[in-house]
Amino acid sequence: MKAAAYDRIYGNAIHAELATLGPEELTDPRVLGLSNGFLVFEDLTRVLEQLRGALAAGEREHPLLLDLGCGRGGIGRWLATRLGARLVGVDGSEVAIAQARSSASPEGHERFVVGDFAATGLAAGSVAAAFSHDALYMAEEPAAALAEAHRVLRPAGVLAFTTYSSVSTPWEALAERSGFVVEQVDELTARWRAVMRAKHERRWSMRHVLRARHGRSVEPELSVTASMLGLGGRRSAIEHIERRSLLLRRG
Ligand SMILES: C[S@@+](CC[C@H](N)C(=O)[O-])C[C@H]1O[C@@H](n2cnc3c(N)ncnc32)[C@H](O)[C@@H]1O
Repeated sequence: MKAAAYDRIYGNAIHAELATLGPEELTDPRVLGLSNGFLVFEDLTRVLEQLRGALAAGEREHPLLLDLGCGRGGIGRWLATRLGARLVGVDGSEVAIAQARSSASPEGHERFVVGDFAATGLAAGSVAAAFSHDALYMAEEPAAALAEAHRVLRPAGVLAFTTYSSVSTPWEALAERSGFVVEQVDELTARWRAVMRAKHERRWSMRHVLRARHGRSVEPELSVTASMLGLGGRRSAIEHIERRSLLLRRG
């Protein structure tokens, strides 16, 4: 999906309401409002520890953390605050960046910019650690996105990101070709499937209420839910997609 298509999503109030209907893991007060409805606290703490380990090896005070595909910026802010880092969030959606900016800290530790994975506009070697939650896997040119991450990271800086098997990018091979070392691969499929199934089952069970409240505008969301659950004889996307996270270190 093109980043600009997210302008519609971020500008659509239905999404905010749907996020509150999620299962416990997604409506956990520690994560609700940080993301688009895919984030569980366990994932957040795993990436926090990965980034903490990577930043501990660096020397600078207030290192720069990059959130690639930052959306409204909540995850990056949560991580940067706990890491004592400055934050730069990059996203292709102008609407997302406007929303992220509207809640940016007045102290100036956070910056949100419209950009592309392959062209962030950041200075070479300026980033201590980068992460991407459910975003980088959408890169139209994954090799160019990795080349850009490699360019902006300082030597030995890390890039942590989640990806799905629905996109057949050979991330490990591309990463090695781009000058990264693959440090860790975590399998997230089982938990992701359970949480997504619960989320879409709840959404589907509320379809009459949602239709009464939002009319036809909720139909695209319900159609996604039907395909995730495999309703109407379709193949269930949830049962066929796998989710992983990768931790790369810049060589
Ligand atoms: C599923 S959302 C995740 C957003 C955020 N990381 C979160 O978890 O809430 C994917 C994000 O990637 C952004 N995106 C997609 N393709 C992009 C690209 N080529 N360059 C920059 N951002 C992109 C979208 O605009 C969207 O905000």
